Amino acid sequence: MSNDATVAAADHAMRHWLGTEPGRIKIGSDAHKRLFCRMLLDTHNPYKPAVIDWPSLSPDALQRITSLPIWDIAVQTEGRATLRVETYTNTVDDPLLREALIMDGGEEARHKVVLSKMVEAYGIALAPEPEYEVPKDPEWGWLVTGYSECIDSFFAFGLFESAKRTGYFPVELVETFEPVIQEEARHILFFANWVAWYRHQLPWWRRLPFELKVMRVWIFLIWERIGIAKGLDSAGEMQDANFTLTGHQQIGLDLKLGEMIDMCLSQDKYRMDGYDERLLRPTFVPRMARLARRFVR
Ligand SMILES: [Fe+2]
Ligand SMILES: [Fe+2]
Repeated sequence: MSNDATVAAADHAMRHWLGTEPGRIKIGSDAHKRLFCRMLLDTHNPYKPAVIDWPSLSPDALQRITSLPIWDIAVQTEGRATLRVETYTNTVDDPLLREALIMDGGEEARHKVVLSKMVEAYGIALAPEPEYEVPKDPEWGWLVTGYSECIDSFFAFGLFESAKRTGYFPVELVETFEPVIQEEARHILFFANWVAWYRHQLPWWRRLPFELKVMRVWIFLIWERIGIAKGLDSAGEMQDANFTLTGHQQIGLDLKLGEMIDMCLSQDKYRMDGYDERLLRPTFVPRMARLARRFVR
């Protein structure tokens, strides 16, 4: 196989997976747990960031990439996610779930390595990394990471595709970032199923506290994003964090907000469609996007 064909085959293998568990799967069952854990483990793409050969870019492509205001927040998000997933993993005894969580955390750590290598290769200036805090409540940290990935990945899918189609994102780099984007799709698929399974596992008296914690996580994430958006307006700093909201304008895409939402929805479907139908899909953010879509052009 040529190199291109090998890469295309690896991308396809990551996006398509059927479990060997027979028949219908009851959400919350052991078979369900095996299904979502195996999905993550079996679709792992073993690329090595150390051997990525960073292509030299044309001067204007290089300028576009280095001036994208996302690299600080991207590196820090991956660093924080790695620590949060690892901290939660240490509390889990179930061997298969643990193995899948180790894979998940390992992929976050690898994202950070990919980004660091890229930053180094193209001379992108980064703000110094803050000290990442070990979450006091490991479950809280895991929930925050999982749900924030559900929000951010949904928009990243659409932005990545748009930037790819317009050529804003250099075609030489698309191949490198494709597996990173699909890894986030696998992570949120895994997380959505984990949440549903975990809920069912809990004894009745722990369910209400858990639901309240999930609500607090959402409030925290919304508050965090509002704070970030405000920070952008006044100081102009932290602008990268607001990229989700204004990203399509910043990368010079001539897309209306409504078209951007459509792109996110269709890309979300494309990235989720190839996995075993018996797995649940992350639905909350797409549902909110569909609702918002009714009010924007
Ligand atoms: Fe990541
Ligand atoms: Fe992730």
